[in-house]
Amino acid sequence: MREIIVESAEEMEALGAELVGQFLAEGRERGETVVVQLVGDLGAGKTTLARGMARGLGIKEPVTSPTFTVHKEYNYSSGSGSLHHFDFYRLEDLGVMGNELEELMREENNLILIEWGGILGELVKNAKIMKIEKLTDEKRVLLLE
Ligand SMILES: Nc1ncnc2c1ncn2[C@@H]1O[C@H](COP(=O)(O)OP(=O)(O)O)[C@@H](O)[C@H]1O
Ligand SMILES: [Mg+2]
Repeated sequence: MREIIVESAEEMEALGAELVGQFLAEGRERGETVVVQLVGDLGAGKTTLARGMARGLGIKEPVTSPTFTVHKEYNYSSGSGSLHHFDFYRLEDLGVMGNELEELMREENNLILIEWGGILGELVKNAKIMKIEKLTDEKRVLLLE
């Protein structure tokens, strides 16, 4: 378990950008898509961290919380790899989202980030967990397995 103290939103983004390459490399080595669960209370910084990971992949589009759309996709390597950002906060019933997610997990070369994945249960049992705890207004601790 790694514990990283993060002093500001900018630092959280920078940290995401720094860590993402390593995650992708691990996935490539195993020929798998990497699934990351972002865990933390509302306002902890999950979307901020996701935005940093998108930056690290060279994604230029604005990354906002997919709370209303549930799923957003961003291409990062000329068509092949995609970042898939899910937010299940408002979802009570998975419906076809479960199938869509399973399908994506079977593919290689994707990075899947999930906020509020409690509803998924066993579906994401192999996900990497990044947990953010709020210490003060701007200070956070990021816990990495
Ligand atoms: N150290 C920090 N890390 C992440 N966000 C921070 C930090 N300090 C302040 N913030 C602010 O907290 C809010 C986090 O929002 P967001 O990333 O959408 O959280 P979540 O997705 O967990 O609900 C943003 O307004 C961000 O600017
Ligand atoms: Mg969010």
